Amino acid sequence: MTRNMRSRAVRTLGLLAGFAICTSATSADALWPLQEYKSSSIKTPFFNSLGTSSFPPADILRGNGYPTIYSDDGQLVWQGAEGNYSALQPQMLDGEPVIAFWEGVVGEGFGFGHISILNGSYDEIHRVTLDCKEQDFVTVFDPTTFSSCIDIHESQFTDNGTILVTAINVTQADLSSVGGPKNGWIQDGLIYEIDIKTNEILFRWSAYEHRAEVPMSYDIAPLGADGAGSGKNKIDPYGYPHFNSIAKYGDSYLISSRYMCSVFFLAPDGSVTWHLHGRYGGDFNLSLDTSFCYQHDVRFLSQSAERVTLGLHNNDNTEFTGSAALTTGMVLKVELQGSKKVTLERRMWDAAEPVFAQSQGSFQTLGNGHVLQDHGATPKIEEYDENGTIVMRARFGFDSTMQTYRAYRYPWVGRPSTKPDVMACQTDDDQTAVYVSWNGATDVESWKVYSGSRLKTTAMRNGFETTILLEKLPSNDTIVVEAVGGVGSGRRSGSIRVGKSC
Ligand SMILES: *[C@@H]1O[C@H](CO)[C@@H](O)[C@H](O)[C@H]1NC(C)=O
Ligand SMILES: *[C@@H]1O[C@H](CO)[C@@H](O)[C@H](O)[C@H]1NC(C)=O
Ligand SMILES: *[C@@H]1O[C@H](CO)[C@@H](O)[C@H](O)[C@H]1NC(C)=O
Ligand SMILES: *[C@@H]1O[C@H](CO)[C@@H](O)[C@H](O)[C@H]1NC(C)=O
Ligand SMILES: *[C@@H]1O[C@H](CO)[C@@H](O)[C@H](O)[C@H]1NC(C)=O
Ligand SMILES: *[C@@H]1O[C@H](CO)[C@@H](O)[C@H](O)[C@H]1NC(C)=O
Ligand SMILES: *[C@@H]1O[C@H](CO)[C@@H](O)[C@H](O)[C@H]1NC(C)=O
Repeated sequence: MTRNMRSRAVRTLGLLAGFAICTSATSADALWPLQEYKSSSIKTPFFNSLGTSSFPPADILRGNGYPTIYSDDGQLVWQGAEGNYSALQPQMLDGEPVIAFWEGVVGEGFGFGHISILNGSYDEIHRVTLDCKEQDFVTVFDPTTFSSCIDIHESQFTDNGTILVTAINVTQADLSSVGGPKNGWIQDGLIYEIDIKTNEILFRWSAYEHRAEVPMSYDIAPLGADGAGSGKNKIDPYGYPHFNSIAKYGDSYLISSRYMCSVFFLAPDGSVTWHLHGRYGGDFNLSLDTSFCYQHDVRFLSQSAERVTLGLHNNDNTEFTGSAALTTGMVLKVELQGSKKVTLERRMWDAAEPVFAQSQGSFQTLGNGHVLQDHGATPKIEEYDENGTIVMRARFGFDSTMQTYRAYRYPWVGRPSTKPDVMACQTDDDQTAVYVSWNGATDVESWKVYSGSRLKTTAMRNGFETTILLEKLPSNDTIVVEAVGGVGSGRRSGSIRVGKSC
């Protein structure tokens, strides 16, 4: 691996992290080596999967630096082009599985970009944008302009062909309630619902415009704290309210605010139906064991008129608190009426390898009682069974150099529109080694290897790259491989020549 490659990997993977500045950019491969291949120029972190999961045909998706899919056995399945990515999320659109992710320019804790939606062939089929000019966005980067002002945090579809995203507008505000200047600056948090196919805006909501119900005093991030902004000037706006997840239930919106340690439920007219503060309770009666803070990925697991059940990734830490508290997955039952009690249904953590995640993360219920938890700034993914027992843990780094905002287990069939990649060479011990891979293919069973028009062998596919040994072939023999089995069965690589050395 060249030095250049190494520093690039550090930068891109660390930046998206943006939330958690990468402090040890010296030597990524000493911290976690990258896996390399002969047939492809792709480099990817080893995904050290420990223990095996029992639950469905599935792949782990990770995004940041590169959008990536791994299989359960830790093998790479697909890696997209390098970029600034976030909010990568497998979802359904028109009955088809797709991948949505944010891409754009990242600042400290927020960004300006668009949402790309890829189909099973990894082709972009939709691009959701939010016109910065038309919507009158002010950014810390003015006068630099951006073509789209969607923030990094969310890419959640509704069942109605729309997408929920966050956006940041830099605006002036009175910060005296949090001990700041009267003429201070904030990162106002906006919520948009946008039609995926037409880009039409169906809902817009600004926290600051609703500050009577979402007051700055709910925010517990101290002014000037690492990542929270001093609020003293336009280029260092205070992180009010730092939204990081939105979902729509019926015609209402569930919003998570990181720095307010809060969950808000909004009516369609933008008024706050209820507010749960993870430290102070808000409209609810919190107990010590139901307290949460700086959380991510808040979703309803169930909902009725009487109560809701919330799933969330409770970081309980930030860059400015340090790693003081244990990060856990939580399931909370919230009584909407009567006692307004919040009770803890489940708490998940890995006692053998506890995590103290300062930023990011996700919490996914898998339908059989299992939960997949991603730890964001701490590059670790865990799966729990219905009794909270760890059934899978995977790491792709030791420190925060490599991060992933969220991760999902999801059934996925990849139909790459590219051809399989192949490389062949003469080995030192007088054989011919053929290396074959097909970025994004999920269900190839075996590979046929042809030399000229002669079928030399058929070999079982073995991971992202399969190595097949043949007798020594002349160094300019041509090799073609063909996929057998799966949706791409019969697809052939281009014709390559056997190289003199491997
Ligand atoms: C990624 O974000 C950085 C700023 O953090 C920006 O300089 C760069 O242009 C972005 N890359 C792309 C491809 O947008
Ligand atoms: C993905 O989209 C491309 C471009 O629209 C199309 O050619 C291809 O057939 C689609 N693939 C799938 C699996 O839908
Ligand atoms: C951003 O803030 C400016 C200044 O307060 C305001 O004029 C503009 O309308 C705001 N834009 C959005 C998208 O809220
Ligand atoms: C779904 O979209 C249709 C058409 O825009 C709209 O009439 C309907 O209210 C939407 N349903 C929900 C639940 O938002
Ligand atoms: C919290 O619970 C106590 C008794 O357990 C009750 O008196 C009080 O009204 C509750 N608070 C709210 C906001 O419902
Ligand atoms: C979970 O606990 C219940 C009750 O003890 C038990 O019956 C069940 O087998 C456990 N499930 C697993 C996967 O161990
Ligand atoms: C390439 O193969 C041809 C026969 O197909 C042979 O005559 C020729 O010498 C080979 N060239 C090299 C450089 O090996």
